[in-house]
Amino acid sequence: MSAIFDVAVIGAGPGGYVAAIRCAQLGLNTVCIDEWKNPQGKPSLGGTCLNVGCIPSKALLESSENYERAAGKFAAHGIRIENLSFDVPTMIARKDKIVSAFTGGVAMLLKKNKVTSIHGRGILFSGGDGDTPWQIAVSDGDKKEMVEARHVIIATGSTPRQLPFAPVDNERILDSAGALALTDVPARMGVIGGGIIGLEMGSVWRRLGAEVTILEALPGFLAAADEQVAKEARKLLTRETGLVIQTGATITGISAGENSVAVEYAAPENGAAKLEVDKLIIAVGRVPNTAGLGAENIGLKVDERGYIEVDDHCRTNLRNIYAIGDVVRGPMLAHKASEEGVAVAETIAGQDGHVNLGTIPSIIYTSPEIAWVGKTEQELKAAGVSYKAGQFPFMANGRARALGETGGFVKVLADAATDRILGVHMIGPYVSEMIAEAVVAMEFAASSEDIARIVHAHPSLSEVLHEAALGVEKRAIHI
Ligand code: FAD
Ligand code: NAI
Repeated sequence: MSAIFDVAVIGAGPGGYVAAIRCAQLGLNTVCIDEWKNPQGKPSLGGTCLNVGCIPSKALLESSENYERAAGKFAAHGIRIENLSFDVPTMIARKDKIVSAFTGGVAMLLKKNKVTSIHGRGILFSGGDGDTPWQIAVSDGDKKEMVEARHVIIATGSTPRQLPFAPVDNERILDSAGALALTDVPARMGVIGGGIIGLEMGSVWRRLGAEVTILEALPGFLAAADEQVAKEARKLLTRETGLVIQTGATITGISAGENSVAVEYAAPENGAAKLEVDKLIIAVGRVPNTAGLGAENIGLKVDERGYIEVDDHCRTNLRNIYAIGDVVRGPMLAHKASEEGVAVAETIAGQDGHVNLGTIPSIIYTSPEIAWVGKTEQELKAAGVSYKAGQFPFMANGRARALGETGGFVKVLADAATDRILGVHMIGPYVSEMIAEAVVAMEFAASSEDIARIVHAHPSLSEVLHEAALGVEKRAIHI
């Protein structure tokens, strides 16, 4: 048996590896255990985010958007391209290269910070009586070892939720990882689930030429977003990207044949309908990875949906055991996982680690992009909060005009009495970058007046946020 570690982190996604590095920076002797293998069967750190999530999806979104610009939008600039073409294998190879640079980078960072990295599956085994350390059984094929640590951070992440009647084979019926690995463009693609993955992956393959139909169960579209933004998104993603979005769809049957998949569904406006596609993506949410973790061995509390129960500081019901990221409550986002990792490391080291779940930005990398932070209008209404709203369209912004990206708007919601910003909602070009200003403002408890009085460069997209903030008191200039 090796030395007792100060901290054992299970999982090396953006929650786990960041937690491990921060622990090491704070002088804690740390081990990070992770079981991920890449398609070549080699250990690959970085979890879902780096291997099959944030990074590869953004690589393909960028490639496909470049193609779409060249094929359609360049003409308005007087740029003509003859014989334009693309090849999917090069796009996929570029994406894979970006992924391996980052996964290798995580291995290097762990090494540089003297974090011990162990490949294998970690199972909570025993411990915790009195002062005894926690024991984690780690197995990698035939190789088995017992790791002991005074503190444990569980960062085991999540995996795609399966539909029992549509088993993923990543041939015809794909999960998000399969949708990132296609080597040619299907003529017809179906997507079950009109959430973030459905819209991002649907956009990639639509831009490259697939006919994409998204079937969403809920009657509304993008339930988590501000309703006005969701309405604008549906309009623009339908009109400009060409996605077919069917809401209120109840799937009644899915059958995969040799060459196609048949999806039967019922929808309010057209009753029973059938969709025949070449590839079907299942993107109906993700489930926390707690099955087989050994929670029951040590009495770790897991709720009925499989999430590890934690308090505001990511403390579980067990002494010195913490859980972070997708495996606990809150949005399933990489930056949320990482910040929880930092906060827990600091808590273990005796500092005041904390994450403000109220100011976590959400971004959907479609075209136009969608981003928000804080409360939506419907949430404020439901909570009976009096608020004022200011809104400004990209159409009236010089930079957006020059870019040729004029769809969308920014909306600022501020408390009616105090003017404190309660939420900022954006749909338009590069709002993934613009949202950071709103996050900073909310973290500093800014008022809409604060943003209104800050000088914003001209011409820049950030002026749209400025004008929206001015609009809260009906004093926007350019509208
Ligand atoms: P994960 O990244 O899932 O990592 C968990 C790790 O733990 C994995 O390596 C897993 O193999 C390992 N593990 C699990 N159980 C064990 C065990 N018992 N022993 C050892 N190892 C174990 N989020 C964003 O913020 N922005 C985006 O743009 C974005 N895009 C996404 C696109 C897609 C297609 C998908 C699927 C997700 C995307 N996400 C995005 C979500 C993001 O990937 C997750 O929120 C994030 O990865 C969660 O981090 P985590 O560390 O909690 O878990
Ligand atoms: P999601 O929760 O965003 O969307 C799933 C959608 O599927 C929902 O709209 C839901 O109503 C619908 N649905 C569920 N069951 C259905 C059924 N039987 N038939 C039809 N529709 C059904 O989940 P998604 O898209 O799978 O993504 C998982 C998570 O990954 C996201 O919630 C997000 O946290 C993260 N992610 C983040 C990204 C980003 O930050 N840009 C990108 C991709 C994923």
